[in-house]
Amino acid sequence: MDSISDILLNRRTIRKYSLKPVDEVLLDDLLNMGCRASTTGNMQVYSIIITRDDEKKKELAPLHFNQKMVTDAPVVLTFCADFNRFNKWCLLRKADPGYDNFLSFITASIDALLAAQTFCIAAEANGLGICYLGTTTYMAHKIIDVLKLPKGVVPVTTITLGWPLEKPEQVERLPLEAILHYETYCDYTAEKIAMFYKDKEERSDSVQFVKENNKDTLAQVFTDVRYKKADNVYFSNILLQVLKDQGFMEQ
Ligand SMILES: Cc1cc2nc3c(=O)[nH]c(=O)nc-3n(C[C@H](O)[C@H](O)[C@H](O)COP(=O)(O)O)c2cc1C
Repeated sequence: MDSISDILLNRRTIRKYSLKPVDEVLLDDLLNMGCRASTTGNMQVYSIIITRDDEKKKELAPLHFNQKMVTDAPVVLTFCADFNRFNKWCLLRKADPGYDNFLSFITASIDALLAAQTFCIAAEANGLGICYLGTTTYMAHKIIDVLKLPKGVVPVTTITLGWPLEKPEQVERLPLEAILHYETYCDYTAEKIAMFYKDKEERSDSVQFVKENNKDTLAQVFTDVRYKKADNVYFSNILLQVLKDQGFMEQ
């Protein structure tokens, strides 16, 4: 197996999978590794729903805007913030749980995402390919119905998993110095912004993106096409309602 640095530095998201199934024992091993991630107070306030059934994948697909990975991948995993199990344990042990608030949702989401990312590293280290689906938080209300998630449980991310059928080019990252601040936050001047985003803006695929979308700048492709304010507000309101319905906004 490659070294951990090779695995982390050479990874890329995989969206095309072969028909080869993912062995159950291997999947369990990877999940065990995922669940070794740090977790708040060792409470493990998350659950993972594993979808292998084709019919269930077909039900989930439209909720992920019909991204093909959902039906093509042998395994789809929905990582959920989950205080339901912990609350039940408390109540059955004469303890009064105080986890019906927004902080608890964030706590459980952090736990779920740490497990998800650790699982992804384990999967990639074993030659598997993964893709995160951001659509989970957009369509949480519908995913809750399909996966029959009780109160106290909110899906926060989905991962499609399978053996890679592609090896796409790695996509760029901002230079490290764009991300790092030493001791205190050093705010960005216009010059620094220009410097840090220069490579991203000048890539041929970015230039193509701007042209295809009839925009003037790459940033406009994000604000006007990919992640629009109207969509953000719409899905944000739905998610806030989900948090209320699932019992995380009682305080
Ligand atoms: C929270 C999250 C949500 C994402 N959602 C999607 C998605 O819905 N569809 C998709 O194709 N890729 C999705 N991705 C993958 C990103 O597009 C990808 O990680 C990014 O473009 C960088 O590419 P790389 O992972 O190959 O380095 C998501 C990634 C994250 C972390």
